[in-house]
Amino acid sequence: MVIAIDGPGGVGKSTVTQRVAAARGLDYLDTGATYRAAALAVMRAGVDPSDGAAVLEAVAAASIEYWNGSIFLDGRDVSSEVRTPEITAASSAVAGIPEVRDVVVAMQRQWVQSRGGMAVVEGRDIGTVVFPDAAVKVFLTARPEIRAARRAADQAAGHSEDVKVVREALDERDRADSTREASPLRAADDAYTVDTSDLSLDEVVEAVLLLVDAARRRPEML
Ligand code: DC
Repeated sequence: MVIAIDGPGGVGKSTVTQRVAAARGLDYLDTGATYRAAALAVMRAGVDPSDGAAVLEAVAAASIEYWNGSIFLDGRDVSSEVRTPEITAASSAVAGIPEVRDVVVAMQRQWVQSRGGMAVVEGRDIGTVVFPDAAVKVFLTARPEIRAARRAADQAAGHSEDVKVVREALDERDRADSTREASPLRAADDAYTVDTSDLSLDEVVEAVLLLVDAARRRPEML
């Protein structure tokens, strides 16, 4: 069974995904990392990001693998390298190209298939596009100021000016990710939306686990 966890940046998707996966003994896939690796491949190829055909060629030629929470590009662990602000911005742009998404989504589906279709998958379009038949779909939200504060704390830069800068970058990326034509960020009609603004991490994980366990008890899962 696939558990889809979607939502905007800074909402706590990664931590919730990892905790849910650990609690139920499942593997997890961070699809954002796959777009980040694609963006790094494009940067390394020295391709003009606005040249769609060249970008696609660079992504298709790259070997992108995800293992135990780490992302590999052409056989090298690039998990830290893909977290820079440059790659963050470039990943949003690269992810806006429909042909690039086709390549990356095929890889994501293959990854889950090779684990017997059992995984927790986090992203932006998992419940809507990548796994529309996911057994559980969760869409996490939080007020923008809360997301900016969480992201800034993640980056160990929690003083007010940094939060402001982080918020501007998040707002810009949300706008790009939600308004693009190819698989925009949105909740699936059958997703459970959880506003995490006033919940602790434990409470969010607990809520998701209740949904997972309820889905496991459905007759078609037995
Ligand atoms: O979750 P993240 O910040 O690591 O994602 C990086 C970028 O990748 C984000 O700006 C949007 C894009 N992305 C996407 O388009 N679809 C996904 N399923 C995951 C991420």
